[in-house]
Amino acid sequence: MTLFERVFNGNDAVYGLTEQAIDAAIAQHGEEKAVSFPNTAYCLPCYYAVTGVKVTNLKELKEALGVVKTLMTREPRLNDAFMSGVATALCAEFIEALKYIDGATPYEEPLYGHLADAVIRELGVPLVTGDIPGVAVILGSAPTVEEGVALVKSYQAQGILVTLVGGICDQVAEAGMATGANVRVIPLGKDVTAVIHVVSVALRAALIFGNVTPGDAKTLMEYTMQRVPAFVNAFAPLDDVIVACGAGAIALGFPVITNETENIARVPKSLIVQEDVSKFNATSLEARDIKIKITNIDIPVAFASAFEGEIIRRGDMQVEFDGSRVDCAELVHTVDASEIEDHKITVVGPEVDDMELGSKNSIAYVVKVAGKNMQPDFEPVIERKFHNYINCIEGVYHTGQRDMQRIRISKNAFAAGFRLKHIGEVLYASVKNEFEAVVDKCEVIIYTDPAECTRIRHEVAIPTFNKRDDRLNNLTDESVDVYYSCILCQAFSPSHVCVVTPERLGLCGAVSWLDAKATNELDPNGPCQVITKERPIDERIGEYEDVNEAVKRLSQGALEDVSLYSIMEKPMTSCGCFECICGIEPFSNGVCIANREYAGMTPLGMTFPELASMTGGGVQTPGFMGHGKHFIASKKFMKAEGGIERIVWMPKELKEFVADRLNQTAKELYGIDNFTDMIGDETVATDPETLVEFLTEKGHPALGMDPMM
Ligand code: SF4
Ligand code: NI
Ligand code: NI
Repeated sequence: MTLFERVFNGNDAVYGLTEQAIDAAIAQHGEEKAVSFPNTAYCLPCYYAVTGVKVTNLKELKEALGVVKTLMTREPRLNDAFMSGVATALCAEFIEALKYIDGATPYEEPLYGHLADAVIRELGVPLVTGDIPGVAVILGSAPTVEEGVALVKSYQAQGILVTLVGGICDQVAEAGMATGANVRVIPLGKDVTAVIHVVSVALRAALIFGNVTPGDAKTLMEYTMQRVPAFVNAFAPLDDVIVACGAGAIALGFPVITNETENIARVPKSLIVQEDVSKFNATSLEARDIKIKITNIDIPVAFASAFEGEIIRRGDMQVEFDGSRVDCAELVHTVDASEIEDHKITVVGPEVDDMELGSKNSIAYVVKVAGKNMQPDFEPVIERKFHNYINCIEGVYHTGQRDMQRIRISKNAFAAGFRLKHIGEVLYASVKNEFEAVVDKCEVIIYTDPAECTRIRHEVAIPTFNKRDDRLNNLTDESVDVYYSCILCQAFSPSHVCVVTPERLGLCGAVSWLDAKATNELDPNGPCQVITKERPIDERIGEYEDVNEAVKRLSQGALEDVSLYSIMEKPMTSCGCFECICGIEPFSNGVCIANREYAGMTPLGMTFPELASMTGGGVQTPGFMGHGKHFIASKKFMKAEGGIERIVWMPKELKEFVADRLNQTAKELYGIDNFTDMIGDETVATDPETLVEFLTEKGHPALGMDPMM
């Protein structure tokens, strides 16, 4: 049989199954029955992306199947095979969607099935920074459990996001491997149709970040080919259905690497036979042109960004360090080059061997740095990265910062020989690696002696933090001479530009003005460029001629003008990876804000994913604005429309997160005490009527303000 025939056969088989499944569902539930995946604004995302049509019920699903049929032409040409591959993928999506009918939860841990829009938005930043350099789709059963696990781990160690479909899900479970989005290994499902859940991620990325018009299949496929670094590893034996799915993957630009040798035609760069499974990794990276940043650190456990989200439970930990209970600190300290011995690592006090199993201890590490271009302003920028660095160690967990950090070292890591001095190695290597433009020499001192920790914390660290906070508080948009652009997200959102100011951080929440300044210093031709602010046009909305010029140039002409402080007039664009989105609520003259973690309904009648789908892709959408969490308490938060007084609703968790700073700003700006208490949340209202009642009762200031539109 030719490859074409295999694709067509596989496609026909899946089509037949889909037709049966839809007919059976209609017989059972009736045509009007709703179909959708949970936590997405895109209904059946793949079908919507390819055709521009939203399927909402079984009747429409049946009609959609008719459209799919038109893709299934049968000439033995490449394009026919690709379209049949796409048709197979869409059928798979239909079959998977039927599993979710009636709010069913067809996937149980550790399987994921459908992935929420929020997961894709979260992937935005790590994908653009190259922190996640690629996405692997592993399909079928490896020849042995060991080979399967070794392959998965090889990708994990490179930070690649791994999705699993079919027998490999059981194989990693059998090996006892920890899986989950937090360690970047996501078992999707055991049926081959579950592969659609990763395709769905790629296609939604095009809609969310790329501003691709749903239905523009050509642009869609160009987007996935150029911007989504995914590839497929399919284990032999391949049946025709898998071959048909593979044709779909190739149509999207994702190469397929397989160890099948029988009955398979090789297609250069697209369908690659690699008989040796241990070489799948290298072959795949080469085929997709993925480069891995290597940080060689001499420690006895793995070090990779995939371990960043790893959690160490109490029962699995050897020891713990806890800044909320005992004196701890983490600090970057700039000193003169003569005071440093490069790469010297010292532990002052007991090592882990001398600590009792399961005990809580003090730790304070001081990373001394020196360099001609080093500035004290970069200290907190470097320090904040410690969280990522330490978390990347397999078997070590870090939360918090400054003098409130908490670290756990697992029994496994300890047994493998991991000791505190290795934290020093990690900090040294990572700082030197990432900040080489400003750090010439670096030395690490780790204190565990409790008296020394107390001294470092109270006499060195806290005074430094206080000084820095004063500096930050005095850092306003007016007090600086320049702002910075960030165009990191252009990898996925080609026309998006963030303008980062002291009082308005990037919408991802990860880039403050100081971060942008440091990034610019580290790489003057990199993503953060200086933007002057010498020619104001309108102070009220924060519009400048120089900012407009910069934005126009950096967006390649896509954006003409942008304001810094307005949500209605020339608002800043969004890429898609914003932490929060705010949208106007007409009944109260206010705005509602939802954060990415919030899964419920808002008084705007939309969930976070639905609200989020209103903006993105680098386009201006008055009335909706993506932003970082910390922007909420800023004096510049939609200042043009009256500022934070307009905030009428936020999820409870977000409210608690911003309360202190928001209350302080409200007090300073309007003399209101405990402003956060006047703001509704999901425990008060998720509809506008109840919300307005609540706001009236509280005397919320927005009610008396001018309507925004
Ligand atoms: Fe993307 Fe803006 Fe964050 Fe830069 S600041 S990473 S462009 S969201
Ligand atoms: Ni103390
Ligand atoms: Ni982004």
